[in-house]
Amino acid sequence: MTILSELHPLSHSLFSQHNVRVQIKRDDLIHPIISGNKWRKLKYNLSYVKQHKEFTGILSFGGSFSNHIHALAFACFLEKIPCVGIIRGEAQYADNFTLSWARHWGMKLHFVDRKTYRRRHENSYLIQLQKKFNGMYIVPEGGSNSLAIPGVSEVITELSQQTEFDTLLTPVGSGGTLAGLITGDCLSNDNQHKLLGVSVLKGGEYLVDEVQTLLPETASTHKNWHLLLDHHCGGYGKFTPNDIKRLLAFSQETGVDFEPVYSGKMVLALLDKLAQGYFSSGERIVLLHTGGMQGLGGMVERGLLTASDWPTPVRVDDT
Ligand SMILES: Cc1ncc(COP(=O)(O)O)c(C=O)c1O
Repeated sequence: MTILSELHPLSHSLFSQHNVRVQIKRDDLIHPIISGNKWRKLKYNLSYVKQHKEFTGILSFGGSFSNHIHALAFACFLEKIPCVGIIRGEAQYADNFTLSWARHWGMKLHFVDRKTYRRRHENSYLIQLQKKFNGMYIVPEGGSNSLAIPGVSEVITELSQQTEFDTLLTPVGSGGTLAGLITGDCLSNDNQHKLLGVSVLKGGEYLVDEVQTLLPETASTHKNWHLLLDHHCGGYGKFTPNDIKRLLAFSQETGVDFEPVYSGKMVLALLDKLAQGYFSSGERIVLLHTGGMQGLGGMVERGLLTASDWPTPVRVDDT
């Protein structure tokens, strides 16, 4: 699948008021299922496994509403690669929105308790899993590994053909997307752009190290990336009724849908930073829409959001 995701201008009264130009890179439209940063991060992981026949498939990790698990299951289905998801939580989640699709596409689910799940970076545990599942290639949670970096860096290659800009905003969960963007920016530009990562987690300071660890040597010279730590709305997956109100109003005015766990927090960060006068007059900003819209299915299912307000994805049972 070759991708060149669309870039659209966004219009909003606050943008003219603060004299900024905002465009949005619609990675969410890359594919109806493997959307956003998912395809970018998985692309070279999938081709690596296809080239290395010694691997029997792909094994990865995620929570029971994980965008990564959902996208990986479908990507492996398309590429005919067997896959296993090590899922944090109880087997009762197997029928939820996200996991029912993952099972539908053939992913084998293996549920573990929180204590076991915390071992997901330990070598001894990974060796144990490799034995148990007969030599699968292990992709870390969120798909953020060294093979994710060249895939994400292509966002910058595309952008340099599409527009000129000063600042790029992206949500940050595990750090792979931001690390890929920094890498791409080092490869493509003499004048490095300002890259702003919005931590969707409370206490996201540790993500600076995570991003740095993922950066290849060629990208260690980038000095203009920053992590914004105060826009997590209370923590991962959390939001207040007012956050939702602001996000829906933004979607209504711009005509672009977001979800409140990742891309929505980037939007709220943009609005807050505009109000604080953070951006210069005339600044040209690009928002990276990283997708994740499947997550709305689980949030509506759990009663956290009202179905009528959101573009709710289709359930397996409804097909
Ligand atoms: C929709 C979406 N956007 C952004 C992110 C954050 O990306 P990263 O984990 O690479 O920081 C994620 C998590 O992978 C995600 O699912």
